[in-house]
Amino acid sequence: MDPMLNPFAPGAGARPPELVGRDEILERSRILLGRVKNGRAEKSIILSGLRGVGKTVLLNEMAKQAREAGYHVVFIEASEDKSLALLLAPALRKLLFDLDMNEKVRRGLGVLKGFLGALKVKVAEVEIGLDIDPVRGTADSGDLESDLTNLFIALAEAAQDRSGAIALFIDEMQYLEEKELGALIMAMHKMQQLQLPVVLLGAGLPFITGLAGDAKSYAERLFDFPPIAELPSNAVRKALHDPVHAEGVAFDDPAINKIIELTKGFPYFVQEWGYQSWNHASDARITLANVADATDTALKRLDDNFFRVRFDRLTPREKQFMRAMAELGPGQQRIGNIAEVLGVKVNSLGPIRANLIHKGMIFSPAYGDLAFTVPLFNEFMHRVMPKMEF
Ligand SMILES: Nc1ncnc2c1ncn2[C@@H]1O[C@H](COP(=O)(O)OP(=O)(O)OP(=O)(O)O)[C@@H](O)[C@H]1O
Ligand SMILES: [Mg+2]
Repeated sequence: MDPMLNPFAPGAGARPPELVGRDEILERSRILLGRVKNGRAEKSIILSGLRGVGKTVLLNEMAKQAREAGYHVVFIEASEDKSLALLLAPALRKLLFDLDMNEKVRRGLGVLKGFLGALKVKVAEVEIGLDIDPVRGTADSGDLESDLTNLFIALAEAAQDRSGAIALFIDEMQYLEEKELGALIMAMHKMQQLQLPVVLLGAGLPFITGLAGDAKSYAERLFDFPPIAELPSNAVRKALHDPVHAEGVAFDDPAINKIIELTKGFPYFVQEWGYQSWNHASDARITLANVADATDTALKRLDDNFFRVRFDRLTPREKQFMRAMAELGPGQQRIGNIAEVLGVKVNSLGPIRANLIHKGMIFSPAYGDLAFTVPLFNEFMHRVMPKMEF
């Protein structure tokens, strides 16, 4: 069928034609935003889940809720090679300029300038405004924890002075350094104590919960970490049926069932299979045969993109480690068993294990266990390295 009319949206952060199975979490964020706006205390939310389950899509949806509720929205994505300060600065600067200039806003900009100066973030990279004098002695000690807290206080007071509230969105939170995460948690703690109108909505890979707890032991009292998981069958059914129905097209039941089976309900894969199945159908019915044809294309596209970008970041030894994990089958694996497959001692695997965790490829769901952060990665490892080459 006409690819131009294809409703499906495989892609990072791409809004699906039908956002299914997420009503409960969106209701929670709506209540959180409403409560904080009204000066009531509520735990902030950090979504945790594997690659491609729809965390970014949810954050975008929550940002929409925040805008509709009258929040000033700051949205950043943490990365492995940029500091939190550098990511925050342009967004916070914009936020302050969006507020009508007054004494508090001017002070906020001055505090931001002082903050950046102390962290030696080149102000040229984030031009605050030449006429703004940096405020000394507030957020410029060089200690990120106290400086970020004081910066947030200045920002929140500036927003509050304009009857505004701030919603800070941070995607890929697992890439924050421990001291950055600690500073952020501490700053949010202060916001809650002072009842300032700032809310944090974040997302990260499943081990974000552990990272936050390591950074500040009280993290779990400040944040909820709702797990975002694969979709149940009835939700997948709806995600496939509704968008094509709107175009006057129908899926045969066996076709949908096959997609449920192949994708295991992982949202990214559902979009990919939906997309390819549509393109392979020749009339207004998508059949099991169309899904079978679509599977080759879908797998190839996933292998060339979704999986490949991750695989290409691995060193040869890391690839071997990942392949050994895949050899043991789907799900989480004991590190001892991985060592056995590789024919090495467990403790010799420490550095590789640490690097793979740092790269966000694997995580430890329980002591001594390891799992892939990318769904169905074990199957990909078998396709890309059919034999254990070592
Ligand atoms: N609830 C949903 N229903 C249907 N499709 C969805 C849903 N959530 C996400 N998707 C689709 O899944 C894909 C991945 O979504 P998204 O990029 O938000 O995942 P993610 O968890 O942020 O992944 P990553 O960890 O790789 O950043 C997109 O193509 C999106 O359209
Ligand atoms: Mg994402």
